[in-house]
Amino acid sequence: EDPEKLAAFQARIDAGEKIEPKDWMPQGYRKTLIRQIGQHAHSEIVGTLPEGNWVTRAPTLERKAILLAKVQDEAGHGLYLYCAAETLGVSRDEMTEMLLDGRMKYSSIFNYPSLNWADIGAIGWLVDGAAIMNQVPLQRTSYGPYSRAMIRICKEESFHQRQGYDAIRACAEGTPAQKKMAQDALNRFWYPSLMMFGPPDGDSVHSEQSMAWKIKINTNDELRQKFVDQTVPQAEFLGLTVPDENLKWNEERGHYDFSQPDWSEFFDVIKGNGPCNVDRLADRNKAWDDGAWVREGMLAHARKKAAAKVA
Ligand code: ACO
Repeated sequence: EDPEKLAAFQARIDAGEKIEPKDWMPQGYRKTLIRQIGQHAHSEIVGTLPEGNWVTRAPTLERKAILLAKVQDEAGHGLYLYCAAETLGVSRDEMTEMLLDGRMKYSSIFNYPSLNWADIGAIGWLVDGAAIMNQVPLQRTSYGPYSRAMIRICKEESFHQRQGYDAIRACAEGTPAQKKMAQDALNRFWYPSLMMFGPPDGDSVHSEQSMAWKIKINTNDELRQKFVDQTVPQAEFLGLTVPDENLKWNEERGHYDFSQPDWSEFFDVIKGNGPCNVDRLADRNKAWDDGAWVREGMLAHARKKAAAKVA
């Protein structure tokens, strides 16, 4: 690529300008954005599966209405993100096919099962909490359509986080059995939530270039630390114990010291070997196949309309 064009592009990024779809951009910038935004969109869509699992079994009508609305919001986030990725010249169908045949990833967290009602609280509190921690800085990302999608998504996501905290608080303040359920949910979701931020900085292949292009604003470890610092006092308020014996406030650093998740488990999960990878992809493949008649019907209708216009 032309070094002058590359330098001018970097100067725009450094000056804090937004890059828009029709602007010149390096191939790598386009490719990284398609990967990251596409992966993010897939995560929103696949993320509806563990929560959808509890819609019919929510303990009250109110909780059910809230959960339904939240799942619907997540599907909407997926759609804004697919639209943002489409501005880079990839179609939603292509991205979907790449998800379905395993060429594209989605967040590791959604390969863990939601086993009890308190998991729904933990997902809102921890998973959406981790998602916002990563998404708030992405509102300042250099690609205009991604940045604008993030602004709306973050508003909704912060409501999701609060509803999750409220749901797990109700369990934590409930009967001994309910409190036990809340603790069990925290035990199982803590480390997978820490993994959401990606591998340690030393193993993060994309961070350096993505940060230079302001596709990413923070490193994986920075955001993970921020998440731990924010979440530990919330767990204390609930009377729940974070499952980490090494968790300790470090006065000197002004941060909590904490144990790293099992990174071999993380790499295994993103290779397709997590507890629910096979089920998640089977569900998405089934949804795609079941929807074929709708897509065919819409296309046939569009063709008929177009032909009528010509005639
Ligand atoms: N789950 C699955 N794969 C992951 C995860 C994760 N939690 N974290 C990192 N990876 C993958 C990367 O995609 C990359 O693999 P690839 O080259 O095959 O794509 C590899 O691990 C190395 O990681 P990094 O170099 O650190 O990757 P990257 O710079 O993309 O950072 C991050 C990962 C932080 C997740 C980034 O992509 C990002 O900020 N994405 C946008 C946010 C997002 O996707 N959130 C979705 C989850 S939350 C929700 O939607 C409800």
